[in-house]
Amino acid sequence: MRVGLLTGGGDCPGLNAVIRAVVRKGIEAKGWELVGFRNGWQGPMEGNVRPLGLADVEDILARGGTILGSSRTNPYKDSGGVDKIKQVLADQGVDALVAIGGEDTLGVARRLTEDGVGVVGVPKTIDNDLGATDYTFGFDTAVHIATDAIDRLRTTAESHHRALVIEVMGRHTGWIALHSGLAGGANVILVPERPFDVQKVVAWVKRRFERQYAPIIVVAEGALPEGGDEVLASGEKDAFGHVRLGGVGNWLADEITRHTGAESRAVVLGHVQRGGTPTAYDRVLATRFGLHAVDAVADGDFGVMVALRGTDIVRVKLSEATAELKTVPLERYAEAEVFFG
Ligand code: F6P
Repeated sequence: MRVGLLTGGGDCPGLNAVIRAVVRKGIEAKGWELVGFRNGWQGPMEGNVRPLGLADVEDILARGGTILGSSRTNPYKDSGGVDKIKQVLADQGVDALVAIGGEDTLGVARRLTEDGVGVVGVPKTIDNDLGATDYTFGFDTAVHIATDAIDRLRTTAESHHRALVIEVMGRHTGWIALHSGLAGGANVILVPERPFDVQKVVAWVKRRFERQYAPIIVVAEGALPEGGDEVLASGEKDAFGHVRLGGVGNWLADEITRHTGAESRAVVLGHVQRGGTPTAYDRVLATRFGLHAVDAVADGDFGVMVALRGTDIVRVKLSEATAELKTVPLERYAEAEVFFG
């Protein structure tokens, strides 16, 4: 059997751990040949492919990014994109694909399966917003990086009696903000799921200053004020129709200064949250996802995604996994509110 792998969407720590696990188990336990398609769905559309042998996956377990490259290419936006993929797979003698990605990459995987291509999905995203799995790999690493940043920013904020606003990623969900904010002891956590009242934030900040502490505000890039809109970094949309978020941190820091007279600074963590070596948790999760994806391919169980349920890896339908975003439940957010102010 010849199996192709690809990584699509924003990169994420742990992608190489999945690739390694699929290649190791595919070759050593199943006797398969493995190939890697470069740059997400662009690879199988353009025939951009490389062999993947055991030597190619030595030493990649701890490496961030993806040795296959990634892109946000959408074959359903390209006329004839699906036919091109089918032709490349036939030319390459590839019987099945393992697609590692988030909602967009796996949405394509779902449609391709319906169009007759055998695909098994592996969920990845630092945002942790994919339905049908308790966690995605990459999230734990992003939360660690953001928490470390909060710890560091706290000491400089306290030295200068400033409010520090830390903007984290997460797109339209607040998982990274909630977890890093809780872990870092933030005084305010703002998430897209719960539009915020600027005056309340200002009151919490003042209260913190009154107690001689510097306020730390963690804001998700998709958080928005009541009655307002998400702040966009640019008006551009990607091939899946996503806007680029960013800027709410700076906006909020200015509002805080305007209403309190206190100095404030905003720090946008940005892509540093996605870079570098994965945590041990993400390496283990990514490795287990890869091992179970091999079993799904061997069973001919296409149109599924491997998922974490409790401590077990299970298979769920791609249609279930991509049906809706997993947002932060309001009762989970309410748990954190006790620490605000
Ligand atoms: O989905 C992962 C993510 O990092 C989001 O948190 C963020 O909004 C987006 O990707 C950034 O995308 P890009 O890498 O295209 O700037």
